[in-house]
Amino acid sequence: MLFDTHCHVHDEAYNEDRDDVIQRAFQSGVQYMMFPGTDIPTSAAAVELARRYEGVYAAVGIHPEEAAEITDEAFAQIRYWITHEPKVVALGEVGLDYHWPEPSREIQKKVFIEQVKMAVELDIPIDIHDREAHGDMMDILHTYGKGIRGVFHCYSGSLEMAQELMKMGFYFGFTGTTVFPNSKKVKRLAAELPLERILIETDSPYLTPPPYRGKRNEPRYVQYVAAEIARLRNMETSEVARITLENGKRIFQIN
Ligand code: NI
Repeated sequence: MLFDTHCHVHDEAYNEDRDDVIQRAFQSGVQYMMFPGTDIPTSAAAVELARRYEGVYAAVGIHPEEAAEITDEAFAQIRYWITHEPKVVALGEVGLDYHWPEPSREIQKKVFIEQVKMAVELDIPIDIHDREAHGDMMDILHTYGKGIRGVFHCYSGSLEMAQELMKMGFYFGFTGTTVFPNSKKVKRLAAELPLERILIETDSPYLTPPPYRGKRNEPRYVQYVAAEIARLRNMETSEVARITLENGKRIFQIN
C-alpha cells in the first residue's frame, strides 16, 4: 500500500473527474493521500475532501506564490482549522520560492515566518516548499523553528543540508522528478538518504513521472516514484511502499 503525501486533488484540474481520480488511487493501492492547500480557498477545499474520504488528510497554509495579499484573517482561519479539524495533519504548503521575482522576498519571508511560528506554537508538522531559497530557508528555521518538525516536499537541497534538517526532525518528499532520466542529483539523494526519512508524493497535477510525463498527474502514479526509489536502492518496490507509508503515518501522526 502507498501513501501519496503531497497531492493537490482539490485543484481545478480535477473539476471534471475528482471523485474518479480519488477512487482510482484507492483501487491502485494508494491507502492514504495528503492534500495541501496553497491559500484559503484551496485549504478549505482540502479540508472538505478530507472530511468526506477516509484515507484523505489535509494541510492548510499560504504558499509563497500566494503571499502577496495575505491578511490577519487568513492566519486566524489557518489556526482555526489546525485546532478544530482532526484530519488537518500539517501546516502547508508554505515556504519560499525565489524562482520568480514576485511576490518580493520580503513579503514571502514575512508570511513564511508567521507560519513557522504558528507550527511551533501549535506543535503541528510543517509542509515546506523551498525553491532556490535554501540559505534564507535555513536561516528562518534556525531562528524561528525551535522544536519544529515536518517535510521538505520535493526536496532539492544538498546532502549536507539534509543532514542538518534531519537533526531538526525533517523528512524529505520525492516526486515524479525522481523518475526523470536526467535527475542525477535527486536520484542520488533518493539513494543515499536514510529510507526512514523518505516520503513519496506526486505533487499532482504537476511533475508527472514517466511513462505519463506531459499529461496531468494523479496520485495513483506515486507507484512509479516508489519503483524508482526501489531500483536506486536495490530493494523491492513493496518494501519502499511499506516503509514510506509508515514514515508518512509517523510524521503526520495518523493512527
Ligand atoms: Ni505542491
